[in-house]
Amino acid sequence: MTDLSSETFETILARRISRRSMLRAGIVIGAGAAVHASVGSAVAETAAVTSKSAFKLNFPPLEPPVPMPFDDVAIADTFTHDLVIRWGDNLVDGLPEFNVLTQTPELQAQRFGFNSDWTAYFPRNRSGPDYGRDGLLWVNHEYTDGLMMFPAYDPENPTNRQVDIELAAHGGTLIRVAQAQNGRWVYLRSDLNRRVTAVTPIQITGPAAGDPALQTSQDPTGRGVLGTLNNCGGGVTGWGTLLTAEENFDQYFANNAALPEGPQKALNARFGVPEGESSRKWERFHSRFDLAQEPNEANRFGWVVEIDPYNPTATPRKRTALGRFKHEAAAGTKTKNGRWAVYTGDDARFEFVYKFVTRDRVRPGGAVPNRDLLDNGTLYVARFNDDGSGEWLPLVHGTGPLTEANGFLSQADVLIRARDAGTALGATAMDRPEDIEPNPVVGSVYIALTNNDRRGTEGNPDVDPANPRPVNVAGHVIELVEAGRDAGATSFEWEILLLCGDTDDPSTYYGGFDKSQVSEIAAPDNLAVDSLGQLWIATDGAPRVLPMNDAVVGLPVVGPERGRTRQLFAGVFGCELTGIYFNSTETTMFVAVQHPGEGGTVLEPTSKWPNNAGQVARSSVVAIRRA
Ligand code: FEO
Ligand code: CA
Ligand code: CA
Ligand code: CA
Repeated sequence: MTDLSSETFETILARRISRRSMLRAGIVIGAGAAVHASVGSAVAETAAVTSKSAFKLNFPPLEPPVPMPFDDVAIADTFTHDLVIRWGDNLVDGLPEFNVLTQTPELQAQRFGFNSDWTAYFPRNRSGPDYGRDGLLWVNHEYTDGLMMFPAYDPENPTNRQVDIELAAHGGTLIRVAQAQNGRWVYLRSDLNRRVTAVTPIQITGPAAGDPALQTSQDPTGRGVLGTLNNCGGGVTGWGTLLTAEENFDQYFANNAALPEGPQKALNARFGVPEGESSRKWERFHSRFDLAQEPNEANRFGWVVEIDPYNPTATPRKRTALGRFKHEAAAGTKTKNGRWAVYTGDDARFEFVYKFVTRDRVRPGGAVPNRDLLDNGTLYVARFNDDGSGEWLPLVHGTGPLTEANGFLSQADVLIRARDAGTALGATAMDRPEDIEPNPVVGSVYIALTNNDRRGTEGNPDVDPANPRPVNVAGHVIELVEAGRDAGATSFEWEILLLCGDTDDPSTYYGGFDKSQVSEIAAPDNLAVDSLGQLWIATDGAPRVLPMNDAVVGLPVVGPERGRTRQLFAGVFGCELTGIYFNSTETTMFVAVQHPGEGGTVLEPTSKWPNNAGQVARSSVVAIRRA
């Protein structure tokens, strides 16, 4: 870590923000940067001419609604939104309507899950005509909250039935969605609708499949696992499948103290697996969550899972080649030689940014010919150098420090213990990497660092140029440009695009625009890029820093408006906003409103959105479009 205490904050900013941004003002610093920015601007201007996007950043920004707390959603003038689906909505005909008092695990497994996160839209037909009005929508369900689900919930003594309902409310949902003649988006009860839950059989593939560390009494082969947990972000592949990312899996497991001293126990502790009982107490009813009984079950979570949305009977696959950690996201893009690169961060304080590049090229023909593509390739971890350069360091067993002498037994061990491997390689400890999104229009990549309240505090890493603020409560966004603008490159340049927070705070940076010209945000989380190359950001935790509910803002990343944020949407009291995915014609943006009213309970709600006369707040997906 660099000691920046002798430098002023302005000096750091000047060094790490200046180059591409200053081009806006006509100041050319270096030839490389000039080429990048001029190419990016030209591409973006071409896109602006040809794109029919409904989301061009020319609308009057939404003023954050007052008074606080504001218990509804709000949207910028000229836009409207449709409520598409809520937690508990039935996916098939013939079920009773949702009622908090009559929930069962069997019903929940046929209903929309809890706490919606990342979304992805797929045209209904994989090929053929597509008007962007008939599609499949995947939605992650990140986690459950018993106090918000059940009127009689005792966190110290959850019931077996409550736990099983929660298992069935995890994972993800695939629904058929369509736009009616009046423009309104609805979901349909279709035989393509599908739930994947915390008990769905899932195959484990790739270099770590079958490894002894993945074997359990339920699965002595180490190649099959029940369910996916804490599905946060994700990405769509170039062959029409989706990747859903397992994030904070530590909270489901108990009794790390029962493990023998060694790397696995130490890594569990680094993940946050408790020494004793878990906060959820699932281990009381399902022994696989008790490490004293199933020491390896936790090793089977923290992966990226691939699902084919067009084949409702296809088994999901955990792709171990992409490494195991608290995966936030898995957005990808093609490399210049036709391979697939997946960017994925590990969302915890002082953890790392990763990239996976396939060994083989993407083949035409959809999911079938690319079935094993993600099982072979190289996982890299990022080092952000102080001078604005950076390296992708390969996590390959037997190279560099990743040797048996250093305790890394095999490639499987390197992947299962990717955090340990990243530390050994000297990766840069970041301020909680959330979503990472490549921008194929401009040829850049964006990384949301949501916050890190321990940066620079006693006993923790100090600030560095890529994480330049101590006690970074508001978060920032880094722009990364791969060498040759090729996602397959092993080096890059980076600079800071945004330093979020209150514009009166001199440590913030919004492209050089002042308070009157921008929409303030804090805690950037989910990202999306549209066909104009504009960047969209959903926040998670803005109200802890600013007098506002969480927001969706858009900003240009090239041209004179680079860095100028404009608010489109505001969420409900207590929620975070997630999702952000466009339909194929970019007339609609899908956004999920996760945990509205969080902090309340069913009996003492702080919100009942979206049905204020209803029983409870219900996490939902909305479709945003021009009015
Ligand atoms: Fe699930 Fe890091 O947000
Ligand atoms: Ca997130
Ligand atoms: Ca994204
Ligand atoms: Ca978050």
